[in-house]
Amino acid sequence: MRTQVGIVGAGPAGLMLGHLLHLYGIESVVVETRPRQYIEERVRAGVLEQGTVDLMNRTGVGERMRREGLLHDGIDIGFRGHRHRIDIRELTGNAITVYAQHEVVKDLVAARIAAGEPVVFEADHVAIADLDSDRPVLRFSSNGIATELRCDFIAGCDGFHGICRPSMPEGVLTAFERSYSFGWLGILAEAAPSHNELVYMQHQRGFALFSMRSPKITRLYLQCNPQEDINDWSDDRIWAELLLRLKSSDGWKPNLGPILQKSVTPMRSFVVEPMHYGSLFLVGDSAHIVPPTGAKGMNLAISDARVLAYGLAAYYKGGEKEFLARYSEICLRRVWKIQRFSWWMTSVLHRFPDANSFDLRRQEAELDYLTSSTAAMKSLAENYAGLPLECEDEWTK
Ligand code: FAD
Ligand code: DHB
Repeated sequence: MRTQVGIVGAGPAGLMLGHLLHLYGIESVVVETRPRQYIEERVRAGVLEQGTVDLMNRTGVGERMRREGLLHDGIDIGFRGHRHRIDIRELTGNAITVYAQHEVVKDLVAARIAAGEPVVFEADHVAIADLDSDRPVLRFSSNGIATELRCDFIAGCDGFHGICRPSMPEGVLTAFERSYSFGWLGILAEAAPSHNELVYMQHQRGFALFSMRSPKITRLYLQCNPQEDINDWSDDRIWAELLLRLKSSDGWKPNLGPILQKSVTPMRSFVVEPMHYGSLFLVGDSAHIVPPTGAKGMNLAISDARVLAYGLAAYYKGGEKEFLARYSEICLRRVWKIQRFSWWMTSVLHRFPDANSFDLRRQEAELDYLTSSTAAMKSLAENYAGLPLECEDEWTK
């Protein structure tokens, strides 16, 4: 069997890449180890940048998002018990949309299937080889039948724990990493959101975040120990801690309700350079991870996919390889800006266990500056709503 582009992984990166390639008239096969239902229900990100929203709308997969997504013009940043609104729309002309990652995945899977493009779920023994040739191979088995797919290119969209990054020869990659001494405990609660925008709250007991998924479902996060056993957190304990940390001087607090799902996520910043070797391109979390504080991971995965699709289209249209050769350099410029922003949001809002009294005062001064200076608010707003894209494709305004 053969195809033009073998795509490993059906997360936002792999599915968006497959979708854009289809629109460019380029064949691809998506190979995913998990069942369809699992990827369509996996609870993860929730905030879409303006550029991601525009891309979904302009490529015909935004219909449900327009109906069900929640458009937010601003966010609240809180400290010392006071909330301060940052008006992203007024500062940048852009906004964000709250629409769960698994809904984006559902929309992209539906579009792929409707287009008759191949996607293999529950694949076993996924492996890639011959990456230094112009006929790399993607091997997998499905329902006990082994397949060898010859490709022109392979896109490694298989996340942080995938097989593509480790398939590069030793010595090619340089890794840049920072781990954090805390994680996030996240819950979904059956409770109407008590506020119509997100609240990022710094508190001496640790960071807390108020978000939502729909007019009936609230999403909340608490800074916690990364090794925290979720079984030690009863629903009552979670609510007590959330109420303490989110308590606002104006009396605002989240509505309580049955907890539908809870989990602990560790945090890291991670980048490999380059994101390209031979016929293999790394896309999204397979090449980089950001801490979740800036809500950037899925958006970044989608912008990598967009750059790669553009480069592949240039190659198939006129044999032009120059853009593809610059894929890594082009993506990494954005990756590092997003790493900076996500690290900064994390550092101003979390309680670092080794912080001394000087650090705490300095952190409060930073939040005071951030919420009182138009220049500082504008800097946050333009990063939060999304920096301009690195390539001008047909879906750029
Ligand atoms: P993934 O979504 O990890 O997809 C990779 C896919 O590859 C998976 O489906 C996996 O099953 C598959 N796979 C793995 N190995 C193989 C293999 N060997 N063969 C075939 N397939 C394989 N980001 C935001 O932008 N905004 C947010 O608000 C946000 N909040 C977050 C909150 C939490 C709690 C978490 C955990 C993450 C959050 N993120 C957020 C990050 C975001 O979820 C990720 O950055 C995003 O999923 C990256 O997409 P991806 O397609 O690169 O990787
Ligand atoms: C959500 C996740 C984030 O990382 C964030 O910064 C804001 C919201 C969410 O899951 O809703």
